[in-house]
Amino acid sequence: SIKACLFDLDGVLVDTAKYHYLAWKRLADELGFEFTEQDNERLKGVSRMASLDILLSVGGVELDEAAKLELAERKNNWYFDMISKMDDSEILPGALEFLKDCRENGLKVALGSASKNAMTILNNTGLTPYFDAIIDGTRTTSAKPDPEVFTLGATELGVSPDECVVFEDAEAGIEAAQRAGMRSVGIGSPCTLGKANLVIASLGDITVDRLLSIAAV
Ligand code: G6P
Ligand code: MG
Repeated sequence: SIKACLFDLDGVLVDTAKYHYLAWKRLADELGFEFTEQDNERLKGVSRMASLDILLSVGGVELDEAAKLELAERKNNWYFDMISKMDDSEILPGALEFLKDCRENGLKVALGSASKNAMTILNNTGLTPYFDAIIDGTRTTSAKPDPEVFTLGATELGVSPDECVVFEDAEAGIEAAQRAGMRSVGIGSPCTLGKANLVIASLGDITVDRLLSIAAV
């Protein structure tokens, strides 16, 4: 039976993709090439350094490790300025209600995010108290689609993988859930998230009752 829900952060609980995009675009501008919103889609769920590699490949730029670290830091400083101004108005539709629904039904709740900025975002949006365990990019060594972030979450919650449901907006996140032996709900389009057990447009489209009835099948 289902005992826990594990949530990705960016794109599932909050809309931070727009801030990531603004900061990456500013970096591309400074480096002198175009970076479109379509290019940005490829960065969803991808770690910071891997995102930078994709961005640099778009611009056909090759740099050594030290230069890359400097650029990643520059991008993150701009990104941090933006997320520092976030508040609870930026929680995605249905997310807060669903987190409360989990609580009321006795399900455990964990965060499973690649972001090293997760705590800033959770604190600024007031979401921190809804989590029993928080696994973010400061606590993992392997990025999604590696299952580490979700496996660690289940361990910390004291549940087994088959008792977990993962909520993800990125293909790499759905794959990470599968490799962890967990069920998954894709938030977004069935075109990109077809491997999930269920795909919905937003957390506003599901209740814990419905989740449990689907999982029972
Ligand atoms: C999430 C986002 C990615 C981001 C990554 C690392 O997975 O979807 O776009 O690159 O986190 O975030 P960070 O805040 O550590 O740069
Ligand atoms: Mg995401």
